[in-house]
Amino acid sequence: MPKTTARSTAEDSKPVSGGSKPIAGNSEQGVHCEQGVHHQQRVHLEQGVHLEFDKLLDICTRLNAPAPVEKILDELLHQTRKLLNAEAGTVFIASCEKLSFVCCQNDARPDLCVAPSMSDHLRSGLKGITLPINDASLAGYAARNGQALNIDDAYGLPDDVPYRFDRSYDERTDYRTRAMLVIPLIDESERTLGVLQLINRVDNERGAFSERDRQIALALASMAAISIHNAKLRDELRHAHLDTIMRLSAAAEMRDDDTGQHIRRVSMYCETIARAMDFSHNFAQLMLFASPMHDIGKLAVPDAILKKPGKLTSQERLVIEDHTRVGAQILEGSSIELIQVAHRIAESHHERWDGGGYPNKLAGDDIPIEGRICAVADVFDALTSARVYKPAFSMDKAYAIIQEGAGEHFDPAVVEAFLRDRPEIEAIHEFLGDEAGKSPTAVPSTS
Ligand code: C2E
Ligand code: SIN
Ligand code: SIN
Ligand code: FE
Repeated sequence: MPKTTARSTAEDSKPVSGGSKPIAGNSEQGVHCEQGVHHQQRVHLEQGVHLEFDKLLDICTRLNAPAPVEKILDELLHQTRKLLNAEAGTVFIASCEKLSFVCCQNDARPDLCVAPSMSDHLRSGLKGITLPINDASLAGYAARNGQALNIDDAYGLPDDVPYRFDRSYDERTDYRTRAMLVIPLIDESERTLGVLQLINRVDNERGAFSERDRQIALALASMAAISIHNAKLRDELRHAHLDTIMRLSAAAEMRDDDTGQHIRRVSMYCETIARAMDFSHNFAQLMLFASPMHDIGKLAVPDAILKKPGKLTSQERLVIEDHTRVGAQILEGSSIELIQVAHRIAESHHERWDGGGYPNKLAGDDIPIEGRICAVADVFDALTSARVYKPAFSMDKAYAIIQEGAGEHFDPAVVEAFLRDRPEIEAIHEFLGDEAGKSPTAVPSTS
């Protein structure tokens, strides 16, 4: 049993360290490679892996749990550092032909630690550190060539190796990088997903990583790569769903001066309110994804009415009000929960708490909670935005109207939650202002 484990660990790591690609480095110059493993080291490896088996099993379980990509990478770094006694480490993720910094852990220097950001716009803004995938850095080299590097001293690289260590980070932070394991994260189709760097082994005399350390890190990295690949597929699918929803909903709006910002703000207001009301994460996500379709029935409303600059006649008013019924029809009878929620929202977002709304004159708790939430989000956004028939009102005026509507137009519990989370609402309003980002594809963060 331990033998099998040891062998398969070593063999499984081979495609990761190169596969059809060349093997890294030169073992005589402080750079170890797979071919340099001696018989004695193999025996040691087998016994060692036997001892670590329970630990490894625990790590496997943790790394295979479904989670956002950043979380998996953070966990991979944490677990491999713990197992191999690395003082510090960083993870990069590959995207758009570059390596983007994800997180940094450092036991000796808490001030240098950076947790992964779960928010796309924060990551691209604040932490936009990227490296090109080329030989100018160790991580870039590992990513480009699919090779794992084991380096005893980053400052003492021989002249004839094809990669370079960039000391500028050390110089800026006054940290001394010595030993490094630089491990590419490669998926089943040999695509590079990212790079894991472990820095300074702290518990042995040499302060360096062994060949066995490298193999363990490789094995864990190749396992994490599967989870990361799956997480990316999940993200892409979700992104594709939301993108489709946003585009179709924006088409339904058919407003000259609105490029989908309205539905995106309403969508995020709905999620914020759901969270403030202590509903489950799942429900808040359903609100985020389903609410963009609230006005999909406006597809059936002629431009002449929808874009009429002035007041509507009572006849025109009836045509517009029909957008709730049309929306309900479009979204009717789906077996998909998201569309079922969207159906309830489209039908009920113009009902009023006091029973005076449309189309069914429902009152109070008879109105689905999703519709009650969307009503507040939708009206608030209509109030704070310019429409062909009205100018934008100030934040304070819009808040006053919502507050006055509690118990008449709106569910008081929803209004209470909405008022409580005003800073978040204002941040969304600011971030998704009508001038910001004209593309309907810039979808809100979903983590
Ligand atoms: P919308 O523009 O997205 O507005 C959504 C809801 O926000 C409205 O639902 C209403 O409850 C609230 N709202 C909008 N503007 C004001 C306002 O100035 N004061 C107050 N207190 N509430 C406001 P409602 O009235 O059922 O209208 C549904 C949709 O009908 C509107 O969606 C809009 O597309 C259209 N609409 C309503 N009134 C007019 C109008 O006078 N002219 C034109 N062209 N369209 C209108
Ligand atoms: C929940 O998931 O928190 C329940 C939401 C609901 O009332 O439908
Ligand atoms: C809920 O419906 O679950 C809470 C909000 C309310 O009913 O007032
Ligand atoms: Fe509507």
